[in-house]
Amino acid sequence: MSKRTGPLAPGVAFITGGARGLGNAIAVSFAKEGARGVVLVDIQNEATFAEGKKRVEDVGCECLTIRADVTKEEDIERAVKEAVEKFGRIDYAANFAGVVGPSATIAEMALADWQATQAVNSTGVLLATKHEMRQMMQQDSIPGIESGRVPQNGSIVNCASVNSLMSLSGSSAYTASKHAVMGITKAAALEGRAHHIRVNAVSPGFLLTKMLDGFVGESSGKGAEMWNEFEKRQGRAAQFEEVGDVVVLLSLPRCSLVNGTNVFVDGGFTVNEANN
Ligand SMILES: NC(=O)c1ccc[n+]([C@@H]2O[C@H](COP(=O)([O-])OP(=O)(O)OC[C@H]3O[C@@H](n4cnc5c(N)ncnc54)[C@H](O)[C@@H]3O)[C@@H](O)[C@H]2O)c1
Repeated sequence: MSKRTGPLAPGVAFITGGARGLGNAIAVSFAKEGARGVVLVDIQNEATFAEGKKRVEDVGCECLTIRADVTKEEDIERAVKEAVEKFGRIDYAANFAGVVGPSATIAEMALADWQATQAVNSTGVLLATKHEMRQMMQQDSIPGIESGRVPQNGSIVNCASVNSLMSLSGSSAYTASKHAVMGITKAAALEGRAHHIRVNAVSPGFLLTKMLDGFVGESSGKGAEMWNEFEKRQGRAAQFEEVGDVVVLLSLPRCSLVNGTNVFVDGGFTVNEANN
């Protein structure tokens, strides 16, 4: 028996929604823990892709950017193929492409808005999980597994939300999409076991990313007031890398028995009865 040494996460990370926000923070966390390569999959503009890539490269990690829309199966299939052509395998996948969806009651819901939200947040997670799993099923375990521990052919972490457990008036499209993420995650976790693939989810609390620009709006408006209440219940404002680091930790072979679970990264928001 000896002390553990070396990088925590020496494999290859593949991140949808990776150009900015939480996905990019995950990419940087993987880079900091010694990933051999990081792949950013997104539909962002060139400038955002370049900024996201630079943040990863500044840590000294090789970074590949791929423009692909998670709602299109041919895109996500191609993204996995290009990642494998470049780095040979995918050890850690994080499916974080997402949209906030409409703020509309069910009585007022436009079908197209509902469908567009499910297409990214739920179908997009299904398609990414499908093609990441297919790749992981074909590859061997990541090397370096300790004696007596099961092989680890890959880990997938899907992005849920506190809305995978709770809801808010006017959030049915987003809430349903995040409940669906858990349905996909649970089934995939059971289907992956025989292949030494683990599938989990994280549920971030409240982080002021660009996705929420339209929702939070001006600092004095109703959205901003609601945001302040959310942060109070969460205990404080949160840093993007606080989500990034948890995704890395869940992806490690030392989490070999963690499968099909939903880790809340919310400062205690979901267990807090009061707003203090
Ligand atoms: N910010 C929060 O408070 C919070 C809380 C819980 C969960 N989340 C989830 O975190 C994930 C990341 O969101 P974020 O807050 O970092 O926002 P963000 O808007 O900064 O990041 C989302 C990324 O997904 C990309 N994307 C959107 N549609 C896509 C598509 N069809 N194909 C490929 N990429 C696509 C966007 O271009 C963007 O770069 C989302 O799933 C979101 O629901 C966020």
